[in-house]
Amino acid sequence: MLLTPEAIQARVREVAAEITADYRGLELTVLAILNGALVFAADLLRHIPLPLQLETIAAASYHGRMETAGAVNFARVPLPSISGRHLLIVDDILDTGLTLHAVAAHFREQAEPPASVKICVLLSKEKRRLEAVTPDYVAFQIPDEFVVGYGLDYELHYRNLPYIGTLSGG
Ligand code: IMP
Ligand code: MG
Repeated sequence: MLLTPEAIQARVREVAAEITADYRGLELTVLAILNGALVFAADLLRHIPLPLQLETIAAASYHGRMETAGAVNFARVPLPSISGRHLLIVDDILDTGLTLHAVAAHFREQAEPPASVKICVLLSKEKRRLEAVTPDYVAFQIPDEFVVGYGLDYELHYRNLPYIGTLSGG
């Protein structure tokens, strides 16, 4: 076990408090990237007592196992229009950065872009970056190990664990 349910919940409340302070009085849209960010976003939102809109997209990047490194697919088209609103993209983990770079770029490059685009991640692995992505809110920095639980999966398993653990081989 890397992060206990209690440690996660305590830190989620701290990040939510920061976000609440930063977005007070602004038109906020939270965009959760499915499926991994579902659990984190659900907990986070319940500690942000501001009027906000919730959107979701499903994005998948195929690096590692496949040759097409760098391709990021959006499974929900058309993507939500958040023109003029302040967009906070929420994901489970920032790893190579391919996913969040592609999602952020998609919205920043719209004809009528959001008023601002920021990124919030539960976890960040600093060492693994292939695309320069600077997250605005990071709940936990973690070492370069494969983790599961609290939304994160290994081959579709373990998303429902209430804690985050490293997966040991064998
Ligand atoms: P990136 O595009 O490499 O930053 O990939 C981020 C995505 O890869 C995350 O949203 C996860 O779905 C997946 N991922 C990266 N590292 C892990 C991990 O340690 N455990 C589970 N999923 C991971
Ligand atoms: Mg993901």
